Amino acid sequence: MKTHRIKVALGDRSYSVLVGHGVIDQIDEVLPKSAKRAVVITQSTITLQPELNIPSTTVVIGNGEEHKSLQTIEMLAQKFAEFGLTRNDVVIGVGGGMVTDIAGFAAASWHRGTAVVHVATSLVGMVDAAIGGKTGVNISQGKNLVGAFWQPSGVLCDLDSLKTLPQRELRCGLGEVAKYHFLTGDDLLALEMPERIARCVEIKAKIVAADERESGSRALLNYGHTLAHALERSSNFFVGSR
Ligand code: GLY
Repeated sequence: MKTHRIKVALGDRSYSVLVGHGVIDQIDEVLPKSAKRAVVITQSTITLQPELNIPSTTVVIGNGEEHKSLQTIEMLAQKFAEFGLTRNDVVIGVGGGMVTDIAGFAAASWHRGTAVVHVATSLVGMVDAAIGGKTGVNISQGKNLVGAFWQPSGVLCDLDSLKTLPQRELRCGLGEVAKYHFLTGDDLLALEMPERIARCVEIKAKIVAADERESGSRALLNYGHTLAHALERSSNFFVGSR
């Protein structure tokens, strides 16, 4: 089956996003050569798991926004220390946007910067969250207020995981796809799902390459997000459960 490969062009920090069925099996392609150990971060609801040729341990984090917290980052850092993860090793986030945001921030902080690879299992993760290096956690004053820009070494969008994605999650992802339609005018609905996802990744990769740290055009990618964060905040959607 076809694998789409999209490059996020950021000089010596450039990386590939692979989109296709079963691409998790191509994880060796995007792991840093220096990595001798890996910590996989995932959730209990995620069934997709990479097969690795290096020693690894898996840490399961909680479901729900209340776990997207500094406490989770501290717990992960303790697990990294217990496992002996060094700065030359790799963190692998397997899940939706929450998992990849947390895995990215934990990797950015560990030894002041350790490689991270994302395996996106939700449509939102594939077309947005896992790409572009935004990482972070929530505090009671707001969503994603603590974080870092930390680009992954590679991103795998394994379309097999969409087969079991709940309808509501799929609809959330289609909302992000609509964002790319509004930004470009592209007729994304005319494309089959693999090509549609690959095209969204291409659009995002181009914007990130032009404005990695959001000093200008990258703010276009927040279309719809800012309003949604305000709604979440005013309805206590995520702080209420603390
Ligand atoms: N999710 C918006 C961005 O990556 O800039």
